[in-house]
Amino acid sequence: MKVAFLSALVAVNPAMAGFDTWSPPGPYDVRAPCPMLNTLANHGFLPHDGKDISREVTANALFDALNINKTLGSFLFDFAIKTNPKPNATAFSLNDLGNHNVLEHDASLSRSDAYFGNVLTFNQSVFDETRSYWTSETIDIQMAANARMARIRTSKATNPTYKLSELGTAFSFGESVAYVVVLGNKNSGTANRSWVEYFFEHEQLPLHLGWRRSAELFEAIDLNRYTDEMENLTNVAVQEAARAASRAPRGGHFGW
Ligand code: HEM
Repeated sequence: MKVAFLSALVAVNPAMAGFDTWSPPGPYDVRAPCPMLNTLANHGFLPHDGKDISREVTANALFDALNINKTLGSFLFDFAIKTNPKPNATAFSLNDLGNHNVLEHDASLSRSDAYFGNVLTFNQSVFDETRSYWTSETIDIQMAANARMARIRTSKATNPTYKLSELGTAFSFGESVAYVVVLGNKNSGTANRSWVEYFFEHEQLPLHLGWRRSAELFEAIDLNRYTDEMENLTNVAVQEAARAASRAPRGGHFGW
């Protein structure tokens, strides 16, 4: 009752948006497979009901909460809008992002594959696999790449309908980079593991653990630089796995 009341209040009163404001989704609110957009809706940077989100609202929310420049915010909106099935749409809702194989893809870090169930909600056992690759208190791009590859291997091995399109692959590299260098530090390419875990598990910015909005603007050039690095690390691992498989005495198989 209290939660539903707070949700309704934030939805009608954008002034209540901010770092000090947080409430979980109410019964009529919608959410996405994206833990960050859900987080921003829970804080009220995006509409708390998760519905009818325009370009301007998207870019402002990413800037206000995360210091992502508005050009990049607007570029990301161009992807989001593709998930709204209505022709000539000018806004999207968070649950549109869950439409399978548009942006939403298999082998997510914290959601089960569409074949197994709900892609919009957090799945603890999927996430436990991901975080087992974050082997120190500071997560770097290598660890994020290891986690990404592990989830792909598991998904390939267990999901008979497994699919990762070219766009899905590119988007998934961007997502893995984002939790390290948007939530963490874009100069060091690292993030505090406790912040990242809290963010995924609670869909809340980890302010009480010391996280603060970055003082530095995050731009497309930062995203591209780290996405290239993650792609290279992944390619090296794939090639090494293929070499290991060809050396294996009988039926070596890495799952890629
Ligand atoms: C308008 C901007 C954004 C859009 C349209 C968007 C969209 C999406 C979508 C569709 C997914 C689901 C992919 C899947 O199937 O796993 C996703 C996942 C994800 N997004 Fe976002 N996102 C945006 C911004 C951000 C930002 C700023 C961050 C920063 C941390 C972020 C972090 C993530 C992460 C970590 C995942 C992976 C979740 C998982 O694999 O379980 N996203 N996003």
